[in-house]
Amino acid sequence: MSSIQSLVAQMTLEEKAALCTGESAWTTTPIQRLGVPRLLVSDGPHGLRRVADVYSMANKSLPATCFPTASALASSWDVELLHEMGQALAEEAIALDVDVILGPGANMKRSPLCGRNFEYFAEDPYLAGTMAAALIEGIQSQGVGTSLKHYAANNQEYERFSISAEVDERTLREIYLPAFEMAVKKARPWTVMCSYNRINGTFGSEHHQLLTDILKNEWGFEGFVVSDWGAVHNRVAALCAGLDLEMPGPKPTRVDAVIEAVRNGDLDEAVLDEAVRRILTIVCRAAQTPKGGEFDAAAHHVLARKISAETIVLLKNNGLLPLQNPQHVAVIGRAAMEAHFQGGGSSHINPTQVDVPFNELQKLAGNAELSFAEGYPKDDSRDPALIEQAVAIAQTADVALLYIALPSYKESEGYDRPDLDLTAQQVALIQAVTAVQPNTVVILNNGAPLAMGEWIGGTAAVLEGWMMGQAGGGAIADVLFGRVNPAGKLAETYPLRLADTPAHLNFPGENGVVRYGEGLFIGYRYYDAKELPVQFPFGYGLSYTTFAYDNMRVSDEEFKDVQGVMVSVDVTNTGAVAGQEIVQVYVHDRESRLVRPYKELKGFAKVSLQPGETKTVAIQLDERAFAYYDPARHQWITEDGQFDILVGASSADIRCQATVVLQCTMELATILHDESTIRAWFDDPIGRPILEPIFNELMRKGGLFSENGSNDDSMDLISFLMDLPLRSFFHFQEGSLTQPPDDITNMLLDQVRGVKA
Ligand code: BGC
Repeated sequence: MSSIQSLVAQMTLEEKAALCTGESAWTTTPIQRLGVPRLLVSDGPHGLRRVADVYSMANKSLPATCFPTASALASSWDVELLHEMGQALAEEAIALDVDVILGPGANMKRSPLCGRNFEYFAEDPYLAGTMAAALIEGIQSQGVGTSLKHYAANNQEYERFSISAEVDERTLREIYLPAFEMAVKKARPWTVMCSYNRINGTFGSEHHQLLTDILKNEWGFEGFVVSDWGAVHNRVAALCAGLDLEMPGPKPTRVDAVIEAVRNGDLDEAVLDEAVRRILTIVCRAAQTPKGGEFDAAAHHVLARKISAETIVLLKNNGLLPLQNPQHVAVIGRAAMEAHFQGGGSSHINPTQVDVPFNELQKLAGNAELSFAEGYPKDDSRDPALIEQAVAIAQTADVALLYIALPSYKESEGYDRPDLDLTAQQVALIQAVTAVQPNTVVILNNGAPLAMGEWIGGTAAVLEGWMMGQAGGGAIADVLFGRVNPAGKLAETYPLRLADTPAHLNFPGENGVVRYGEGLFIGYRYYDAKELPVQFPFGYGLSYTTFAYDNMRVSDEEFKDVQGVMVSVDVTNTGAVAGQEIVQVYVHDRESRLVRPYKELKGFAKVSLQPGETKTVAIQLDERAFAYYDPARHQWITEDGQFDILVGASSADIRCQATVVLQCTMELATILHDESTIRAWFDDPIGRPILEPIFNELMRKGGLFSENGSNDDSMDLISFLMDLPLRSFFHFQEGSLTQPPDDITNMLLDQVRGVKA
């Protein structure tokens, strides 16, 4: 018996029930009699929100480094950097006595209106999963746990505690689950946090299929499932579904409910034991990491600046950037003085220090004279006087730097965004300043896409600075002055208009239900399919240098699915300064039984190049890169056929491509049944040879096939027959049959299923 199992065996029913419910908002219940310590958990994904007293309701948290939020992090496409950040987060967790960090979030950006998108990585599951796994691995490499959240389909804040996300099986498997799946399989998070919402009618906390069948049994998750704070409604049902720990506590009524359910036979004690085993495993693992000490706040601030600089996306540049010795710089916008560096809600951090963007500019600006105007008020009001002051300093300067932050009342945990717009004052400010100063740079701080049509035309350059973390002010100065060459690329599409966005007609739902009607087609998958123009495509971002792609190769032009294929390409820095390029590999399936997105991201690499330097980038595509989820078989499948491999600098800038031929090695059960059409039988490699002789024979008997082939009329009839279900087809032919039609149907079905006659 393992030590954990022997611990479980020694526990009373009361102790077991207590362990499965929090002791406080942030701790699990210790069992002193058996030497089981408490586990301390703390938000959040991009910095520690460790409340000073875990037993009080006070919210004030201890100082910790605030790193850029997830939407920024994903724009770095930098796996090593996220790993490094994870290690730093773990050092802070150790110093602050935290065993498990409540993050990262791996939910998809279904609509840019989701108020919490700043906490999520991407609109693409492969990118989000890769980023989440890197952060988890970094944190856990130091003996601190993570909680991958919010599992699953938590893609909006509107009615987030109750709404039912109605998602079809294939969309769930191909879009909303893979980031979780990748992170679980690759990085083995210690815990997974369920979502508040319902998924197809069942609460995330009570979803047996998601928590037990898929997460634990199929993906092999070995940690424990924790509820989001307050997500449990029926404790016993949740335990049965696979929800191990309910948070927050204390909740004596829940503990009693579990005890009572075991006593009266409603809950099998083995189910409780399994939850206890999982929780104890993590509690004991966490206890092996000694806690306490201090973290190096200054070093982490430096790291936060480096990370922030890697996340910045240069959206537009007419050549003004990097700034070349400007003499007089007009700095406009309150965000230059009050950095907007994080979002509202449970991830809100008490930073160790905050860079003031204006001061950081000043440090790098040499002898340039900097003037400042506030530009816009804190709230939604219009103030023409602020615009006049800004225009006055802008028109006498060489350059205007406009620091525009989306106000937190327009973007936060807890509510969705009303629109994609800046405030009316901010738009008027940009328009007025660009009208008098052509050398205007707009620096944005926000967590999710903005509509820019009204104002981008007059700007010389636009930087997306995100919710940039506490050292972002310095990072922006680094990029403006060319100390850092920007390399970030968008992890989500910037649409032209809200009405163009994929979920527009099905967001945020009504009557307690939100229908994911766009299915697989979120983000670039949607814009590709609709051939819609966008402001900036997924994967897009400029640099101060340029890159050429040449000599694309594939390891095999024909390959077996299980082997995958290696793609390589030579990338050259063709400009004058060192830079980094993010090379993206998309896969396009030329033909498939089910509809597929035009292309999907399946690999990427970030490469650093000196001017003139060439490096070969090699990216391995595995079986999953070519597979899709077949809801008829309830499994991922591959199909024989040609695939185009597209290598690009963004989803809209494909630089080279190659075609490969995949050979499926899977033994797939037939999906033909008695209502499958004649056409489906003919399209099926097993069905066709079984049906064809009988079909042809009947056609000959009916005079539809003759010695001289078939005439137009008979072709029309054959086309008509093609869409008949097999069973109906034989019923129509009854007069020509020697056996009852249902017997023939069943005989053919037995044959395709491999049953010997
Ligand atoms: C949020 C979680 C968070 C938890 C604890 C919830 O409201 O959805 O992301 O980890 O609170 O603060």
